[in-house]
This record gives sequence, structure tokens and C-alpha cells, in this order.
Amino acid sequence: MPDQADDNHGASGDPASSDTWWRTAVVYQVYIRSFADGNADGIGDIAGLRARIPHLAALGVDAIWVNPWYPSPQADAGYDVSDYRDIDPAYGTLEEADALIAECHAAGLRVFLDIVPNHTSSEHPWFQQALAGDASARERYLFRPGRGDDGELPPNDWHSNFGGPAWTRTTDPDGRPGDWYLHLFAPEQPDLDWDNPVVRAEFEDVLRFWFDRGVDGFRIDVAHGLAKEPGLPDAGEREPGAHHDEPHPAWDHDDVHDIYRAWRKIGDGYDPPRVFVAESWAPSNERLALYVRPDELHTAFQFDFLRAPFDAAVFRRVVDDARARAAEVGAPSTWVLSNHDVVRQVTRYARSQPDHMVESRWERLRWPSEEPDLERGRRRARAAALLVLALPGSVYLYQGEELGLEEVEDLPDERRQDPIWTQGGHTDPGRDGCRVPLPWGGSEPPYGFSPEGAAEPWLPQPTTWAGLTAAAQEDDPSSTLNLYRQALRLRRALLEEAASFQWIDSPPELLAFRRGDLECWLNTGDRPVPLPHGQVLLGSDPGSEGGLLPVDAAVWVVTM
Ligand code: BGC
Repeated sequence: MPDQADDNHGASGDPASSDTWWRTAVVYQVYIRSFADGNADGIGDIAGLRARIPHLAALGVDAIWVNPWYPSPQADAGYDVSDYRDIDPAYGTLEEADALIAECHAAGLRVFLDIVPNHTSSEHPWFQQALAGDASARERYLFRPGRGDDGELPPNDWHSNFGGPAWTRTTDPDGRPGDWYLHLFAPEQPDLDWDNPVVRAEFEDVLRFWFDRGVDGFRIDVAHGLAKEPGLPDAGEREPGAHHDEPHPAWDHDDVHDIYRAWRKIGDGYDPPRVFVAESWAPSNERLALYVRPDELHTAFQFDFLRAPFDAAVFRRVVDDARARAAEVGAPSTWVLSNHDVVRQVTRYARSQPDHMVESRWERLRWPSEEPDLERGRRRARAAALLVLALPGSVYLYQGEELGLEEVEDLPDERRQDPIWTQGGHTDPGRDGCRVPLPWGGSEPPYGFSPEGAAEPWLPQPTTWAGLTAAAQEDDPSSTLNLYRQALRLRRALLEEAASFQWIDSPPELLAFRRGDLECWLNTGDRPVPLPHGQVLLGSDPGSEGGLLPVDAAVWVVTM
């Protein structure tokens, strides 16, 4: 394939400038509940995050994205927001948020927040007013009469992403059974009606509220869900909660794009412009590209790596398809190996790999009979990190991946908090296993997550993490933490301005590409292979220096 225009450059071909920093940014996802606990209640908070800014600066990321920190009953770990303009007391105060933003900026880190526009909490004043019978408040949500003789059946056949029907019936103020309301997630997360201009105006104002405080951008939760097909028709046979790879009247409706055109204008009105990243599970990369057209959002997560087995041929297809579609609209790709909703990559790669993209939430790998080989999973995760960090575009890292943490699969059932576990009738363990509080130091739980004498962490940490703490990895040159640090440093020095991407011909079990003077080689086969000529700058496996590229390893080589 000939050299392609690099994703560092827009459709206009302008080189990356400070206003286009987001095209190549490495963004670190802070799952605040589990990052660091400053006030000793066993729950992460802003104070803990502020104290750990040096960790993020030393890692070398460009920005952080903080998961929802707003007041919330926490029915879905903060994705049920009851006030979009404040901070949950468990996490701190607005003043602390302001201080965090200022301190991040001083450390060279930009700050993204997470906006949750598809639904509010059922405790949000709007929904409470709606339940009390306020007609204009009801019009901000999707209340509908039920079907059946007495309205006893849900208005359509949609399923909640967390299991069960997507509708809950309300009781009228006079005590009689009333209408149903839509919730694509938990019943505590009623969906908003985005055809209502009041809803639009409210969220535009929320954006300005945070942009005025210095926030640099937003991750948009469920960005593909806001506009539903008019009339809310039945969906038919489509599997509930799958990866939205077939059209569904609840998801990815064309009307959603108007909302983001308006948001883009708001972001562009700031100096420097504020930016957006969409969480959009669109059914194809073609549909995903529509979200990142020049007058819409800047970036959208490319989620295919989350479903891809550790296989060079599959990885290559993922990269090719994503890049080709994004290039058509002049957008960069935004690579993700992990986040707070999926099984951590160390564990995904620790079992035998399917030969195809996994369709449902790694369910097949969740409670499998096969014992995970975590050492192998960790080797592969390190190799995959070198792959994505060498690709053109932007990369999101999920807290703890820089420590090589695995999914905690054996959490006691009574400690699980994810609504996927409860609402799904205890059939799916849910996402708590990737949300366990980070280990910072020390030899036993809470591993420095909380100050001494604190309450127990909100989810229990494994007793096996002493060797994975940030402190334990600090001085070990071959640790995963130092691999990420070196990769980020080299990426910044060598790749940000590199203007090319080119595949190198290689056997199917190898993935090899060149960017400028740098080559990235990945071996997913079952035999070591000779290393390419050149100087090895970085290897995911310390064995890479012996002239061979080991199995489950990647290297960065300079060939000048
Ligand atoms: C978030 C999830 C959340 C859901 C509902 C998502 O896609 O990433 O954590 O449960 O939206 O808000």
C-alpha cells in the first residue's frame, strides 16, 4: 500500500498544531471511584486524584478523562446523574474540581469530563417532577401508555442493555397504574426525549458550565443513543445488549447528528476550542465515521480492538477498516484496548483466542472453564500496547493497564455492585472485575489506595497484587509501568509528526508497519522470528534483544 496521509493531519493537510492536539493525544481514563482515595472512606475521590497527578505526568499522557463525578445515587456508578453542575460529595466539591483542573493544566495535562446525555438519574429533579405529574417535565422523558387491554404490556419490545425490558411502569399520583417510561439501561436511568428543545438547551448549558471552568473536552456517554426512531417501533428479533451491529430503532439514528453539530459550534466558540470524543457503538466503521465529520465531533472511540482476539491478521483488518473509514472524513482513529466496561486485556488475552471478532461482551471468556494464563495474557497485553501506541491517531488508556492489572474474576458475589449483575439475574458477573481500586504501593490491600486506617476499599483487591503496585514497578526497568513510560516518551519524540503509515509485507502471524524511521513488529504466531535489521528501541518482552522477536511480543525498531 502506498504511503497514506497521516492521521496527525486533517483533511486540509495542515500539520498538527496546538488546536489539533487531540488528533494524536494519549488520554488516560481515570475511573475516579477506583483511582485513589484521599479522604479514607474506601472510595476514590478528587483529593486522591490530585495527589497522584505526578504519576500521570511521569507516565507522559497528554490528558485525562474523568468518569462521571456528579451527584448521583450511584445506581450505575455515576452514570445516573442527579445534578450535572456539581460534584458528588463522595468525590469532593466544585472548589476541589477547579483546583484539579488548574493543577492538571500546570502539569501539562488536559482534562476531559464525561457527559451523560442519554438519560438522567431517576432522582433528578426533572424526573421527580415528571412522576409527580408535571406535564412539561414528563415531556422531557419518554413516557408512553402500555399495550394490552389495561396497558399492562410495555409499549414496545426493546430490552435494557443491562437485562430485562427497557420499560418500567409508573404509578399515577392517584395510586393507579400509569404510563411506562423508557430506560435503555437501569430503571434508575430514564431516557431523555431529545426531540424536546428544553432538553437540548439544558445540555448545551451544562457544556458551557464546565467549559467555562476550564474543562478541555467531553467524552459523550452513549453518544449513539440520543435520537430514537420516531414512534419507537418494535425492534424484532435483534439480540438485546449485543454490540449494536445490526440497525435498531433505539440506536444510531441519523437525527443524532444535529445535536453534535450544535455541540461542535459551542466547543469551537472557546479559545482554545473544546473537543469531544464519542462513545458510539455504531454498527459499522462507516456509520461511526459520520460522528466525526468535520462539523461534528472530533473523535470517536474505535472499539474493535476490544472484541478482537490476539491475532495479527485480525488486528490488521481492524486497523485497515478503521483508518480507511476515518480517512474519508478527515478524522483520526481513536484506539482503545480497554475501559471500565470490558474485561481487562490481560485476562482477555490469557485464554485461548477465538479466530474471529467476539460478538457479545466477552461473555464467552467471563466465567470459562479454562484457567487463565495471566503471565501469557500480560505478555500479550504489553505487546498490544506497543501496537496501538505506534499507530497513527489518538489512544485512550484505562487506569491500571499501565500496571498490567488483570480482571478480578473471583470477587465475592455479595460485593458485586454492577447493575448488570443484579438486573441480569446474576447470570453475567458484570464489570466490577475491571473496576477494582488501583494498587499504589505496599504489600497488602489496600496497597496505598487509601490512607492508613481507612475504610476497606469499595471493592476488594486481590492479595496477589503486591508485585503490581506502582511503587513495586517504579525501579524495575522491565516493568509494565516503565514500558508504558518509555513507549509514551518515544511516541512523543518520534511519532507525533511522522507523516506516513505503511504496512510492511510479512507472514500472516506477524504484523509489521513503518512510520517514518520507526518500524513496529508484532508476533502473534507460535515461534520466535528473526528481528528486522535496525536498532531495537523498545521491546515488550525483555527477550527481544537476542536477535529474535519472541512469541506474543512486539518491538519498535529504528531502521535509519
Ligand atoms: C458507560 C457505562 C454505563 C452506560 C450507561 C456506558 O456506555 O460507559 O459504564 O453503564 O453507558 O450510562
